[in-house]
Amino acid sequence: MPTVLLTGAAGYIASHTWLALQSAGYEVVGLDNFSNSSPLVLERLARLSGQTPVFEQADVCDRTALDAVFARHQPDAVVHFAAFKAVGESTAKPLDYYANNIGGLVSTLQTMQAHGCKRIVFSSSATVYGQPERLPLTEDAALSAVNPYGATKLMGETILRDLGAADPLWQTACLRYFNPVGAHESGQIGEDPRGIPNNLMPYVAQVAVGRREALQVFGDDYDTPDGTGVRDYIHVCDLAEGHVAALRFLLGGSESITVNLGTGRGYSVLDVVRAYEAASGRPVPYRIVPRRPGDVAACYADPALARDKLGWQARHDLQRMCEDSWRWQSLNPDGFKA
Ligand code: WQD
Repeated sequence: MPTVLLTGAAGYIASHTWLALQSAGYEVVGLDNFSNSSPLVLERLARLSGQTPVFEQADVCDRTALDAVFARHQPDAVVHFAAFKAVGESTAKPLDYYANNIGGLVSTLQTMQAHGCKRIVFSSSATVYGQPERLPLTEDAALSAVNPYGATKLMGETILRDLGAADPLWQTACLRYFNPVGAHESGQIGEDPRGIPNNLMPYVAQVAVGRREALQVFGDDYDTPDGTGVRDYIHVCDLAEGHVAALRFLLGGSESITVNLGTGRGYSVLDVVRAYEAASGRPVPYRIVPRRPGDVAACYADPALARDKLGWQARHDLQRMCEDSWRWQSLNPDGFKA
């Protein structure tokens, strides 16, 4: 079976994708510099898969190190997760985001090219749609960057498009994630943000487990059913399967593709709070505070293209997302720190 190199492999979505790729029979090589992840993930993956992970500690911006990794493993394809992903942080530190997210992508592509590896699955984001003009979002919707993080994702897609135009042997799959949440059913791996969680579900999880006092709901005056923000939450394991389907598409043909990975269903902040309380049996106290700058009222996908071209669709509902998130959080109250 083909060998697949995962960059950022110890991260949240990558670690779940690692398991999904192994289950699908691929040889997986993980690469990470642990700048935003824990080596403990590798022990958990070994326990879950029954295999010792093939892993390289390296920085995707280090071409010399990447070159050695490619020479050792000769991957047939790359799934590129390695990137910083905090919207607020990207506004405060744009240069770090451009250097790491764009520099790391270019360095990875240059190394791939030097080793004749021309298939890449790229971790993109619904953030490239900026302020949606029409919902649900289809892949041909207008694109715009509303923060440096989003700009690095949009620029990444542009780089891959230009690369494919210059050399048709390149096959690229840009996967626009909506809102990844949840955890592997074992509760052994899951989302483990450092410091105060930026995103809704990990924050709610920390309130439910008693690490945080209450959730701040960023505005209840949006033009949505209950006034709070509506998003397309997708189970991280469904997202992982989307990567397996994208890889199968690249390995089986000659086309490139850009698809939404979402459920097509939007839930409000208060929907998530209620679902989490039901899943955990714990109260999630909250208070309404002013809107967070840059937030949009609603964002959810039209997932038809991924279904039609990749034969993939999300299977887990919000209740399962919350149940699996809670199992991870309650078994690991301090994440991978412990
Ligand atoms: C969801 C909803 C908030 C926290 C971002 C990035 C996107 C992707 C996912 C990386 C919104 C509300 C949140 C809180 C709240 N990241 N909220 N209190 O902003 O849709 O997307 O994360 O790939 O690129 O843009 O996700 O989870 O931050 O917010 O009320 O403490 O929850 O206002 O309505 P978002 P989120």
